Amino acid sequence: MTTSPHDRVAEIEREGLEALAGTSDEAALDAWRVRVLGKSGTLTGVLRGLGELPPEDRKVLGAAANLAKNALEAALEERREALRRAALASVEADAIDVTLPGRPAPRGRLHPITQVRRQILDVFERLGFLVIEGPEVELDSYNFDSLRIPEHHPARDMWDTFWFDEEVDGKTPLLLRTHTSPMQVRFMETHEPPIRVAVPGRCYRYEATDATHEWMLEQVELLVIDEGVSMANLKGTLQEWARQMFGPSRKVMMRNSYFPFVEPGVEVAVDCFACPGDDPSCSVCRGSGWLELMGAGMVHRDIIEAQGYDPERYTGFAAGMGVERVAMVLLGVSDIRDFHLNDPRFLAQF
Ligand code: DAH
Repeated sequence: MTTSPHDRVAEIEREGLEALAGTSDEAALDAWRVRVLGKSGTLTGVLRGLGELPPEDRKVLGAAANLAKNALEAALEERREALRRAALASVEADAIDVTLPGRPAPRGRLHPITQVRRQILDVFERLGFLVIEGPEVELDSYNFDSLRIPEHHPARDMWDTFWFDEEVDGKTPLLLRTHTSPMQVRFMETHEPPIRVAVPGRCYRYEATDATHEWMLEQVELLVIDEGVSMANLKGTLQEWARQMFGPSRKVMMRNSYFPFVEPGVEVAVDCFACPGDDPSCSVCRGSGWLELMGAGMVHRDIIEAQGYDPERYTGFAAGMGVERVAMVLLGVSDIRDFHLNDPRFLAQF
């Protein structure tokens, strides 16, 4: 069955409108126009064939075909406009408003302990100390024996130790250093006096933690060996360091103490920053009024001799301070454990 010319026009219009609704860009619109309304387009074909029809039919069908042509042209323009608006809207949605303020890039910062370690070392460098470093995994001979702390000596209990399982010659001599003092001996073994060194480094202790004790800590060790070094040099050096670190109003106290590698030995403390100095519930000083920052003393004669230095000619002093303790005082932090929890809210304050 052949379709009548009328049905053909209606079909072209219906199919044309449907195809138009499926177009999504300018190229598709062009292709559609060529296919339907172009020189050899479907509707143009109908209009061209009009001449072959009897005059009556020609008139009626011509009118219908022209209506269809107008409708399709109008629909084409409408579709073009709709696509243009949609394209514009999506560009606007992705657009960057260059007038908005920028998002600030988060800035990193040095860990408070790094900052304080550098401050400590700055002062000692100005005082003429050379900064050196040493191993965190140490031999028990350096960590203990050469510092006059022999095996089974009760003084070893002063430093609860993390030991390694690794055997060397049937023994297990490896440990995480409990203090930076072994670097005194390592440096003396390879150098001659005069010696003036500062040794920063991490130390580890197998012990219960509290507000002033942590199982990992940083120390700065000092060693000075020269002719005529006396307790006055020790006191003067540490007092000058404390003045430059804390300012003149912080009280510094030095009292007798015992460490096997020095004689006499002292401990150095500063007045409590967390309480008036007599609060028994104060976690920093426990009511004593003082926070210990370091141990120090005159290098033991045995150690000078063991290095082959002439003990009549050379004397020296040594000290080992806790960097976190110094940071507590400088930054007003009353719990040492906060430093290595690495809570960004805590760290962002410094
Ligand atoms: N090494 C000791 C400790 O960690 C501190 C110390 C005491 C270091 C006396 C010294 C010193 O150099 O002379 O407990």
